[in-house]
Amino acid sequence: SDSEKGAYPFYMLKEIDEQPAVMRRLLSEYVENEETVKIDDHILNAMKAADRLYIVAAGTSYHAGLVGKELFESLANVPTEVHVASEFGYHMPLLSEKPFFIFLSQSGETADSRQVLVKVNEMMYPSLTITNSANSTLSREATYTLLLHAGPEIAVASTKAYTAQIAVEALLAKALGTVTGQAKAIDYDVYHELTAVANAMQAMVDEKESINDLAKEFLSETRNAFYIGRGIDYDVSIEAALKLKEVSYVQTEGFASGELKHGTIALIEEGTPVVAIITDAPTASHTRGNVQEVLARGANTITISTESLANEGDQIVLPDVSDLLTPLVSIVPAQLLAYYTSLNRGYDVDKPRNLAKSVTVE
Ligand code: G6P
Repeated sequence: SDSEKGAYPFYMLKEIDEQPAVMRRLLSEYVENEETVKIDDHILNAMKAADRLYIVAAGTSYHAGLVGKELFESLANVPTEVHVASEFGYHMPLLSEKPFFIFLSQSGETADSRQVLVKVNEMMYPSLTITNSANSTLSREATYTLLLHAGPEIAVASTKAYTAQIAVEALLAKALGTVTGQAKAIDYDVYHELTAVANAMQAMVDEKESINDLAKEFLSETRNAFYIGRGIDYDVSIEAALKLKEVSYVQTEGFASGELKHGTIALIEEGTPVVAIITDAPTASHTRGNVQEVLARGANTITISTESLANEGDQIVLPDVSDLLTPLVSIVPAQLLAYYTSLNRGYDVDKPRNLAKSVTVE
């Protein structure tokens, strides 16, 4: 069954492997005739009435929100802010006139997110919880719910919930942009784009062995590491860094690659691993420049790039998918690098020290 490991040594690997199937399940749950996204009209009408979206979440779900901002702004043309729940509730920014709140939460039980929802309800603003758990607190207390359909996620480090959240955000952005008449959304073939993503994810999970080799070569001994990228690749860098640090205890930072030279490059020493994510065409050559800068200071670099932007020597090459959806594919090798680094160092991958699957205290 879904909640058994079967032949897998750890749930984390099983859950990484399930991601292509989760993409296909979301398409069958949310798309009709390979074309029309089915989202409750009440949700779309409430979102249509809003002048700004506020995404509130914690941990990996917050990182899925960062990608969601790109999707809602590009496809639905609606200004979107993303906030860490533990900050937002007590230090609320000035809100727009007609805010709409989106809570992203795999478990639907995160206390930091819930305390924000309580305040949002007091202010009588509409809200939507996107969650993997239908009967959860955040689902019951928000105005609306959309489900992730990812199946139970058991490993503490979140993988398939992150990609399911981004896929649901893409479907919702397509549906919203379509009802508000945005040409970009109307023209966006989300069914076929997400099908291509599922196939590209499969190609990546099939590369496990070579990714394990990279993990052994670059990450098995190090104390620290960096992920760098720009734009949507920066969003993924932060999540990729969180994966590696939480399961392997390697101190890892996700950095906007252009910002490195303003301070952090001081940390690069002989052998420091730097993983560059390059899927964003307008900034690819800039990030290539940053890779050269860290190489010149002795870094060991791994480059993850898309086929159309790949250079000879890039260790991980991703099939090309829609620009807005590259995080769904580029995160997979990063999840596998984290998994194998933890495994090779002999840790309990599914139960990293000091962490809980869902944090129900503020
Ligand atoms: C905990 C988990 C993380 C998760 C975060 C938010 O810290 O260890 O993996 O991203 O909570 O959880 P949620 O259920 O709200 O998505």
